Amino acid sequence: MSETIKPVRAPALKRMKQQGEKIAMLTAYDATMAGLLDRAGIDVLLVGDSLGMVVLGHDSTIPVTLDDMVHHTRAVSRGAQRALIVADMPFLSYQVSIAESVRNAGRLIQAGAAAVKLEGGQAVLDAVERLVEVGIPVMGHLGLRPQSVHQLGGYRRQARNEEEAGILIREAQALEQAGAFAIVLEMIPDEVARAVTESLAIPTIGIGAGPYCDGQVLVSYDIFGLYEGNVPSFVKRYTEAGRAISEATRSYIAEVRAGQYPQADKPKVVSLKNASKP
Ligand code: KIV
Repeated sequence: MSETIKPVRAPALKRMKQQGEKIAMLTAYDATMAGLLDRAGIDVLLVGDSLGMVVLGHDSTIPVTLDDMVHHTRAVSRGAQRALIVADMPFLSYQVSIAESVRNAGRLIQAGAAAVKLEGGQAVLDAVERLVEVGIPVMGHLGLRPQSVHQLGGYRRQARNEEEAGILIREAQALEQAGAFAIVLEMIPDEVARAVTESLAIPTIGIGAGPYCDGQVLVSYDIFGLYEGNVPSFVKRYTEAGRAISEATRSYIAEVRAGQYPQADKPKVVSLKNASKP
């Protein structure tokens, strides 16, 4: 008899924090990868707008469109059965008006996400409140906000002094007040991440933010050694799948060129004696 799978939902993450259980989250962009990570037991799958770089070949997340996100969210939701699926709201899909934010987040939920993530603090509080009000769970994202890379002056560590740290802590608290169920903290000092984590009832999920967060997230293509662009120094490579794929490809090419693959059928399998007769 097959075991029934209980899907992870947004409120479960707060319970995990209360019980001291760390949350493991990775990005996924297609059904095959989503299935692999899901069956391995990942808690949260993020359909990250990092797909702009690792899947679509852009050099930032800024060109990613809502249609891109909907397409990949559909694929991930077809591949995963248990993990909580969170879809990133792409650049300009939640900044223009509250009505547009609701419509755009709604498309991601209709595509199979069970929550959305958006970047920012003060500037997005009204949008977060409204989304939560209409029943859409929201994950916040503070610290390095890749969609604001031009304003931040590059992909660099944030909240490096007391004033910036104070602003970040207050923004995290305001996001919690607005109804966010979790917050990603990207590239901030460990001690700032610890202070945020200790000041909130909702979980923090760190990326380049040290060990004191309630969970961790990384870009799957980075940890599997698939992405050949710039990979941040805090990323740990758990395997070299990119190298394995290159080696397998070279073997395939060599075998095709040498006529070693495919091998011919054994002659007795099919009789062609009468095949060419009309
Ligand atoms: O898009 C993404 O992959 C993200 C993670 C880096 C948190 O937002």
